[in-house]
Amino acid sequence: MKVRVVDDEMFATTAATALLVNLPPDRPRLGVATGGTPMRLYDELARRSSRGEIDLSGAVVIALDEYLGLADGDPHSYATYVDEHIAGPLGIPAANVHVPQGYGDDPAPGAAEFEDRIAEVGGVDVQIVGIGSNGHLAFNEPGSALDSLTRVVELSEQTRNDNARFFGGRVDAVPRRAITQGLATICRARSILLLAAGQTKAAALAAALRGPVGSDVPASVLQRHGDVTVIADRAAWSRMS
Ligand code: GLP
Repeated sequence: MKVRVVDDEMFATTAATALLVNLPPDRPRLGVATGGTPMRLYDELARRSSRGEIDLSGAVVIALDEYLGLADGDPHSYATYVDEHIAGPLGIPAANVHVPQGYGDDPAPGAAEFEDRIAEVGGVDVQIVGIGSNGHLAFNEPGSALDSLTRVVELSEQTRNDNARFFGGRVDAVPRRAITQGLATICRARSILLLAAGQTKAAALAAALRGPVGSDVPASVLQRHGDVTVIADRAAWSRMS
């Protein structure tokens, strides 16, 4: 595991460098997390793209997860996030953007289909992940099987509380269910870039990287992956030293 602990102002540029060195030049397949932390990386990529320093318009984008129960085009959906912060600014056509989606009353087939879609595009070259304050990875909450695949999940109260900030502070507006790539699905990515910032992630990060590997701390599964780079700010790293 490679680790870079950085001051706040270096977070985005360090993450961008770590991402770009690991992305193949030809049709890179980029796995994206859609939290608050990676937004800084996407803004940095957008800046570099607008200056003509990078060209990721040929990339394939694959999202980790999506809420269930939001209308198409809902501003809180991860599909909207990917359009606004990643695909749009980087000039990636919609046909090359993949976000899990549940159809109608039964979202399970949509989840299974997404697992196949990842394989069809050839897998993920670099997967960007964050970590939940409860140790979740994507929406794999504590208790998730380490060999889990893309599926429908219930969100924990802690995750709904944490994410209420994206819903105007209203916990009741945060969906109760989601589709998420499983822990085994995520670990198939060739390389993983874990971004963690802020004191609220310190305990979860230490448990994930130093504690035993197990379902109680889903992000601990990353200890089993052979190519993980961690970018953390000093607050997130504070329980590690
Ligand atoms: C969310 C997302 C995860 C994300 C995590 C941390 O619930 N589903 O993919 O990594 O929580 O997000 P943030 O960076 O906003 O703290």
